[in-house]
Amino acid sequence: MAILLRGGTVVTHEMTYKADVLCEDGKITKIGEDLAVNESDVEIVDVSEKLIMPGGIDPHTHMQLPFMGTVAADDFASGTAAALAGGTTTIIDFVIPSPGQPLMEAYQQWRDWSEKSMSNYTFHVAITWWDDSVHKDMETLATEYGINSFKHFMAYKNAIMATDDILVSSFTRCMELGAIATVHAENGELVYHLQQQLMEKGITGPEAHPLSRPPMVEGEAAYRAISIAETLGAPLYLVHCSVEESVDAIRYAQQRGHHVYGEVLAGHLTVDDSVYQDVSWERAAAHVMSPPFRPKKHQDVLWKALQSGTLQTTATDHCAFCNEQKAMGKDNFTQIPNGTAGVEERLAVLWEKGVNGGKITPNEFVAVTSTNAAKIFNMYPAKGAVREGSDADIVIWDPKGSKVISAETHMSNIETNIFEGMEVTGVPVMTICNGNIAWQNGELLAKAGDGKYVMRPTYANFYQSLQKRKALAEPKAVDRTSA
Ligand code: URP
Ligand code: ZN
Ligand code: ZN
Ligand code: ZN
Repeated sequence: MAILLRGGTVVTHEMTYKADVLCEDGKITKIGEDLAVNESDVEIVDVSEKLIMPGGIDPHTHMQLPFMGTVAADDFASGTAAALAGGTTTIIDFVIPSPGQPLMEAYQQWRDWSEKSMSNYTFHVAITWWDDSVHKDMETLATEYGINSFKHFMAYKNAIMATDDILVSSFTRCMELGAIATVHAENGELVYHLQQQLMEKGITGPEAHPLSRPPMVEGEAAYRAISIAETLGAPLYLVHCSVEESVDAIRYAQQRGHHVYGEVLAGHLTVDDSVYQDVSWERAAAHVMSPPFRPKKHQDVLWKALQSGTLQTTATDHCAFCNEQKAMGKDNFTQIPNGTAGVEERLAVLWEKGVNGGKITPNEFVAVTSTNAAKIFNMYPAKGAVREGSDADIVIWDPKGSKVISAETHMSNIETNIFEGMEVTGVPVMTICNGNIAWQNGELLAKAGDGKYVMRPTYANFYQSLQKRKALAEPKAVDRTSA
């Protein structure tokens, strides 16, 4: 049934205005003041005093990920239910082939697992190894399956780490295909070395985790990935930037005119490294994720980078592991499954700390929680927009509503919440996904399978200047025939 959102305030990445919004057949079909409709065919929802914003896009989640000897506790059903409960209508998850596994086989495996998604979903595909079949499958994925981003883990040695030769081959291939390379920037060799040293010293608890991944481990990898991409003229997106060193590397590259984008997690913006000193092993281990939570001074830098546009997107890296799974590393911190949750809390945390904290405007909130990701990953304006013709993926926001975040009430399958006890003012009250009310005031209405797979075409907008620049800079041999 069509839905008319009556009497609300539309907030997009560029403007705020009063209007009614009509959703029909999964699309936004009309926006205007006092829209006239036939009331017998349309469900009218009073949204006065509420904000109508594009549904959140979380560009970084790992539902059901097989990782470090276990499988993430939120699958594509519970994880996307949590997304909808938090106002997020699209996730970009990751297909991560095991080294040697054909890309198309891994892709099909993830498509099967994700059929039960309740929110919309799409995938980055990780490049964890290289040969001619990978080169070929990247093209198949880009041209036939709507994949325009490929991920590279510079950490996780002896598992999924991509070495420099792989980065060079794959970034080059991304350029040929009109795709964007993304990286998890941490120097995997250094992490491995520091982990062995700490274990030899007998520091085996979660407090060793941040010590094995100090800021320069991330900064070096960020700078290296940027240097490789810039040399090749390839666009680059750095996931979960958590330290000043990464922000500096990105800002300098942008100032040189390079197409480089950066993501920050709601967790890294708000949680600091004191969590690893917790006397409870369980609580400290619940915060083991990579990169780790950082000393407070980095949070200030990350917020300013988001405010200034050096970083464009916010995500969660939702990769949930319960206490029993974390306990796999009871005597050895290197065996604690890496990951934390947050897909449900991201928007409320960003509103509370960002908008209420006077750091970003509501329009900038929309940009960093939805629109910018839609543009970089080429889903805009179908996604990331409230405008006629866009998909009806909408969050109805109550800027005066409040709640206290707690594992007691969250949707995720795990026992802990990294934002536990945070009081937030500004909460979602309704999430509309594909034109249907998917979640409303604590009630989940979406069912497994309601989410749609999102095709993302290659050649996002930034390719226009990038290709032109590359053509103009094409090297030429010197003609010496008449010399
Ligand atoms: O600790 C994390 N972040 N786990 C998920 C995999 C990754 O590195 O993004
Ligand atoms: Zn990562
Ligand atoms: Zn991740
Ligand atoms: Zn469990």
